[in-house]
This record gives sequence, structure tokens and C-alpha cells, in this order.
Amino acid sequence: MTDMSTRDSILQILSDGHVHTGTDIGGALGISRAAVSKAVRGLEQNGVEILRVHGRGYRLPAPLVLLDAARIRAQLRTDPPLAVEVHAALDSTNDALLQRAPAAHAVAIFAERQAAGRGRRGRRWLATPYRNLLFSLAWRFEFGASALSGLSLAVGVALVEALREFGVADVGVKWPNDILWQERKLAGVLVDMRGEANGPTLAVIGVGINVEQDNATARAVDQPWIDLRQILAGAPLDRNRLAALALSHIAAALAQFARDEIAPFLARWDAYHVYAGRSVRVTRGDDTIDGEVLGVTAQGALLLRDRDGRERVFHAGEISVRTAA
Ligand code: BTN
Repeated sequence: MTDMSTRDSILQILSDGHVHTGTDIGGALGISRAAVSKAVRGLEQNGVEILRVHGRGYRLPAPLVLLDAARIRAQLRTDPPLAVEVHAALDSTNDALLQRAPAAHAVAIFAERQAAGRGRRGRRWLATPYRNLLFSLAWRFEFGASALSGLSLAVGVALVEALREFGVADVGVKWPNDILWQERKLAGVLVDMRGEANGPTLAVIGVGINVEQDNATARAVDQPWIDLRQILAGAPLDRNRLAALALSHIAAALAQFARDEIAPFLARWDAYHVYAGRSVRVTRGDDTIDGEVLGVTAQGALLLRDRDGRERVFHAGEISVRTAA
């Protein structure tokens, strides 16, 4: 048995939230108490909080349902079905799928933990291991990347609709695809593309959803955020169901985008846009532009009226949008 699968098996035993002694865990897995103790330390080094109950054993602070590829697959509504993989640890699910370019299509991979999760604009994406949703979906389009500029908006729409179906009211989107709940970030989308100018293009759609962040992670995040535990206080947070909902909605959106491009998403995007009509400040490098949000263009770019009354168009990329002070 490798170290990683020993750790997974221990986590599986502890996932009921009850106390388990080192002797019982060792007996169940056919390993010594010392090996259990070593694997528990390994889990802790990977950011998993494990409580020691003096003289009695180990327990998790709260029960845990591990991600399970079979459970996710069983709840998918996609046609054709997606290939689904769950990994205990990866550097980044986006990078793992990019390494499979150009072949990957309709493949989704989840990681319980990322060592080098990437956010937009070169930022890191931080998430408490085993408590959040971190996944990427690879999709092959016949056209080139320039025709895919609105794709990330379509994904934002799909994610809002998945979260609403999961029971999260008040969730909306901030251009180009931050998912916000009452102005705080609940989820983020990172789209990477690989391919030739005229196609085909492999799009890797990376999604991070804050389900349950611990305090240490929370302190390290440098923007207002929220997680589902706070929003849905007390309700069960079935990550496998949320994973299946998110994949079902996103895969349907990608298939529709391949047929009809951005047009069918624009009205829904407007309806979910939390900054509609608001005063914002756009930052592009050292440049800042203040203005009022008019909406998005037919290509999915952000449309602003600046302080001089001119209409300005911004394409997704290295810009950030904040509400004006
Ligand atoms: C953002 O900055 O808002 C985008 C965050 C995207 C994070 C996800 S987590 C799964 C996937 N793998 C990564 O390395 N990043 C994305």
C-alpha cells in the first residue's frame, strides 16, 4: 500500500466524525499503530485537521464526505457522459488537463487538494483540503481561441444556475466570471486554451468553489469571500451532488456554446450581473478608468461609460473591476 492510499483509507475511516483508536485503524488496514500515526501526521502536513482525543484516538472536527467519482458520475445529466476522475492531490487540475492536450475532451478531474492552485491574473487559489470543490473540465472546440472569448461568461452563467439549483439564492456573477454572493466571492473560474489560431482549441475550464474554508486559509485570502457552510448554515453540504450539478450545467453550456456561441447566454448573464448599472473602477496595469457599467457586448466584453461620457470596451484578460469607493 502506498503512503497516499493509506492516508486516504484512514480519512475514509475517520470521515464519520467519530473517535477511532490507532489500534482499530491499524487493525482495519493491516498496518501498525506507528504506521497509522505516521500517516496521520502526513495528512496534517497536507492541511487536514485531525483532533487527538487523549487516550482514545483520533477524530475529525466534523464528518466528511469524500469526493467519489462513481457517485458524481451517477448524478450527471450529461449526454454523452463525461469521464470523471478524483485525485487526492495534484499541483493544479488545470495543469493536469493541459498536459493531456490536444487529446482530452469531455474529461473532468477533481483534486481534494492542490499544491499550486492557480487563480486569474497570476494569483494563487487557496482551499482547505477535502472540504472544497476544485476541478477542471477539458473540452475540444473546432474553432480557434478568438471565437471562444465569450466562453468564460457562458461558464459563469452555468455555475450560477448550478449553485441556484443546489439551493443558493442571491448568487450572481461579476464580469468576467467571478461568482459572488452578496458581494463576496464564492467561486472562481479560470479558462486556459491551447491550440492553433484557426482551431481546433482545447479549453480547460477550471473551477474553485468555496464549500468550507478553515480559518487558516481564510486569513490568507486577500479579498472578501464566503463559503457555502456560512450561506447554507446547517444544511448538508454534499460535495458529490454539487460536483455533478456543476459539471452537468457547465457541460451543457459548452455544448450549446459550440453550436450557438455566446448569443443564448447574454440575457441570462445580464440577469445575474451583480455590477449592472454600478460605478466601478477598472484597473489595467497602471491605468485606472472609472465609469458606470452598461453591460456586456455581443462578444462578452465589458461595456462602461467613463467619466467623460465615452463608451469603453474591455476584454477579459489582465484587468480587474472593483466597485468605486
Ligand atoms: C479565479 O481567480 O477566480 C479563478 C480561480 C480558479 C481556481 C480553480 S481550482 C481548480 C482549477 N485548478 C486551478 O489551478 N485553478 C482552477
